[in-house]
Amino acid sequence: EKGTYPHYMLKEIDEQPLVMRKIIQAYQNEQEQLAVDSEIVEALKAADRLYIIACGTSYHAGLVGKQYLESLAKIPTEVHVASEFVYNMPLLSKNPLFIFISQSGETADSRAVLVKVKEMGYQALTITNVQGSTLSREADYTLLLHAGPEIAVASTKAYTAQVSVLAILAHAAAEALGMKTNLNLVHELGIIANAMEMLCDAKDEFEQIARDYLTTTRNCFFIGRAIDYYVGLEGALKLKEISYIQAEGFAGGELKHGTIALIEDGTPVMALATQEKVNLSIRGNVKEVAARGANPCIISMKGLESEDDRFVIPAVHELLTPLVSVVPLQLIAYYAALHRDCDVDKPRNLAKSVTVE
Ligand code: F6R
Repeated sequence: EKGTYPHYMLKEIDEQPLVMRKIIQAYQNEQEQLAVDSEIVEALKAADRLYIIACGTSYHAGLVGKQYLESLAKIPTEVHVASEFVYNMPLLSKNPLFIFISQSGETADSRAVLVKVKEMGYQALTITNVQGSTLSREADYTLLLHAGPEIAVASTKAYTAQVSVLAILAHAAAEALGMKTNLNLVHELGIIANAMEMLCDAKDEFEQIARDYLTTTRNCFFIGRAIDYYVGLEGALKLKEISYIQAEGFAGGELKHGTIALIEDGTPVMALATQEKVNLSIRGNVKEVAARGANPCIISMKGLESEDDRFVIPAVHELLTPLVSVVPLQLIAYYAALHRDCDVDKPRNLAKSVTVE
């Protein structure tokens, strides 16, 4: 039930700190470390390459997950959109392990890939919010999101749950492979939960950003580099699906190779700056678009901020920034849709779970 909330989407955005804490609880072992079943860790250890398969928002979580699996556990990882992979499969490695990410566990495009790779004799792990769902039943292993039912068509808390579970999985694999990660996930995810709470308490600021940038615009761009680029893709998807504003996410450095031609006077450009290694270069990209008339809105992180920034999120571990930087983008999309009189929870042409290919 949505209780006093006007929309499920807003309620589900607000539930994210609680979901973080539930995930910590659900994955904590006796030593108070976050862990996954040893058979799952063994399956990862045995694989020479991981193939993440998903659609939409879950695909965006997969892109972040690849960073985790490669940087923490050093396992080569590819991320594929299910509907493409099924007809256009890349050359596979010798010992692949497939990881399906699906909130509903019922997405037909993802299931088509699962059926195919099971026929080929490969193992699969499903990361899903729904115990007993088709993708969970048909895979060898399951990790649950513990996000509680997600009712709004636009996925919010499932995304942050997916990213967290992928971090836990990558960390567990790294430990099992004897790699030093220097990452205390219980501690860091606790910091994340507090930061999310602070962002959920700052709704007025995000409502004002939506008002200032998105009330009448036809389009909006999201830019970022490295992991911020992936979060930008998710921010753009959220905005377009519920507000019907044409929104696209781009890698900051790629703009000058074509997209910058679209920048006109007043074009809103949401820029994420949460990564130290690309802080200067993304700010350079913001200057490039501003010089051509864009209206940039920089969302940065404490410690990397500069005076032009519109909002500064609390500092969190550099790998885990998507868990917090996505929250402003979810809220900005929500208020943009609200201001434009859109049906936030049930956008046109969309269904919550897509059970046809
Ligand atoms: C976007 C959204 C969709 C889903 C996609 C996959 O807000 O909800 O893009 O992420 O349809 O759905 P699941 O995760 O259920 O497989």
